[in-house]
Amino acid sequence: MPTLPDTLCHLNGRTQPLRDAQVSVLDRGFLFGDGVYEAVPVYGRRLFRFDDHMARLERSLSKLRIPNPHDRPGWLSLLRELVDAHPAADQMLYLQVTRGVAPREHVMVQGLEPTVFAMTQSMRPPSAEQRHHGVACVTARDFRWERGDIKSTSLLGNVLARQIAADHGAVETILLRDGWLTEGSSSNVWVVHEGALLGPPRSEHLLEGVRMALMAELCDECGIAHNLRQLSEDDLRTADEVLLTSAGREVLPVTRIDGELVGHGALRGRPGPVYARLYEAYQRAKLDQCT
Ligand SMILES: Cc1ncc(COP(=O)(O)O)c(C=O)c1O
Repeated sequence: MPTLPDTLCHLNGRTQPLRDAQVSVLDRGFLFGDGVYEAVPVYGRRLFRFDDHMARLERSLSKLRIPNPHDRPGWLSLLRELVDAHPAADQMLYLQVTRGVAPREHVMVQGLEPTVFAMTQSMRPPSAEQRHHGVACVTARDFRWERGDIKSTSLLGNVLARQIAADHGAVETILLRDGWLTEGSSSNVWVVHEGALLGPPRSEHLLEGVRMALMAELCDECGIAHNLRQLSEDDLRTADEVLLTSAGREVLPVTRIDGELVGHGALRGRPGPVYARLYEAYQRAKLDQCT
């Protein structure tokens, strides 16, 4: 049994020890995975790109017709209380809203009080070794449902996908739907061709990471061309560089896919120059985009 963290959490208006917090077995989050979540990075006790995370939370809730239990200032004060109580300056905040508690039936029961839960933990960034050498990924068919645009707590497809990577000693599974790149099990995936950063377009097949808009901004700042377009398996396998982005990984270079080295020439199997510039730009953004 892993040891449970000795920290505080927020549950339905009450701050309490995480170990002791309990929800009803009739909570629709428990029975159906009927809820949404966000993971917000915290640097120096301040929330990175808070408004982007709130905007995505609002979109996910409205797609599932779950009322938003708090406005943005309400969320901020609730989350700040947890952040301030945690010993680490850099943290990963997790918040979740489920439809609430009701007798079990599939149809969306109206008028429920949503269940609100939040916790935070120390940030566990990628290791210096992973940044220096890049990481290994595997590919798999994207067998998940077709509403990857909703940041839902129903994550079994993503869990199955991630386990494929774990079983192969890799850090992430890159998913291909009908031969087209969608995303990783818990990250967005980017390729570099001829110096330009390319990612798949926003669609119902993938989650719009908060780092999607951020990458466009950082590319503009660094003078790197960028575009979102359909990317084939061949685009992935012949890329000069492959990158992952997510709240926890920030920007991370992929140097091996299905056992093959990524890239060409002297940079084959090594993190490339586009990664290096975007990583630096990301570190600068962390200093002035926190709330
Ligand atoms: C399926 C999936 N895609 C993409 C992302 C990246 O999103 P973000 O940049 O907001 O962390 C995540 C993050 O956890 C994810 O779970």
